[in-house]
Amino acid sequence: MSTALFDLTGKTAMVTGGTRGLGEVSAMALAKAGADVAVCGRSQEDLDRVSAAISDLGGRSRGFFLDVTSKESIRKGVDEILQQFGKIDILVNNAGVNHRVPVLEFPEDMWDLIISTNLKGYFLVTQAVVPQMLERGYGKVINMGSILGTVALPMQAAYASSKGGVHQLTKVMALEWAKQGITVNAIGPTYFETELVSQIRNDPERFNFINERTPMGRWGYPSELEGIVIFLAAHASDFITGQTIHIDGGWTAW
Ligand SMILES: NC(=O)c1ccc[n+]([C@@H]2O[C@H](COP(=O)([O-])OP(=O)(O)OC[C@H]3O[C@@H](n4cnc5c(N)ncnc54)[C@H](OP(=O)(O)O)[C@@H]3O)[C@@H](O)[C@H]2O)c1
Repeated sequence: MSTALFDLTGKTAMVTGGTRGLGEVSAMALAKAGADVAVCGRSQEDLDRVSAAISDLGGRSRGFFLDVTSKESIRKGVDEILQQFGKIDILVNNAGVNHRVPVLEFPEDMWDLIISTNLKGYFLVTQAVVPQMLERGYGKVINMGSILGTVALPMQAAYASSKGGVHQLTKVMALEWAKQGITVNAIGPTYFETELVSQIRNDPERFNFINERTPMGRWGYPSELEGIVIFLAAHASDFITGQTIHIDGGWTAW
């Protein structure tokens, strides 16, 4: 097997919500495979921390303020990345939020925030990044979906709707750019221990429900995301587009 299939040397990656959790894992994984990484987020302290950790690995990295709910912030952030790095070959749409309450109690402002971050944010960031990929005839877009874009759980009205939307948006974008050198795929993770799910992690009943519901009997370890991110960003996946690959210990196989 050729390691060139997974080598990202010379590529520039941009990761939204790259300041912690699965975004940080993705940013570090891409750097380990050789990519330069533009880490995007809203906390300067975290941007500095993650980009310094990547530089420590020997990679080129910088943090960029980018709020995915603001078109102006996206435009400014993408312009700055292009000025610094010259191109973006790999886009990881990852920034996400959640709020868990029953449908009848779901506040409208929270619905709007979740859809605008998790779904519209992916749409707007991709709109801003893909034109320069099309000019060069090369690009890899990776959208962070969820098992909850495919299966459902109670109290996840906005989140599951946003992630179902991400899986569908992935297919539409894949079809539109299939002949132009750009692949678009989604990752559908199960529960991984990050801040987003700390409420569930700290509730023994809900924590165990997830263990019992998962054929492999446990949550995911954040490091287990690394392989799929590198694969979808690298030449190894060049003939794969429009797919959601679940990384879920078998949850969605049931
Ligand atoms: N953890 C899981 O079990 C799991 C499972 C399935 C899917 N996912 C998906 O994986 C992605 C990352 O989740 P996570 O668990 O790593 O969550 P996390 O630890 O809470 O991190 C979320 C990231 O998104 C950023 N973010 C939130 N709103 C933003 C905005 N408006 N603009 C820019 N950045 C924003 C956060 O940055 P700030 O510091 O600026 O808030 C942070 O970097 C999400 O799309 C999530 O739905 C996670």
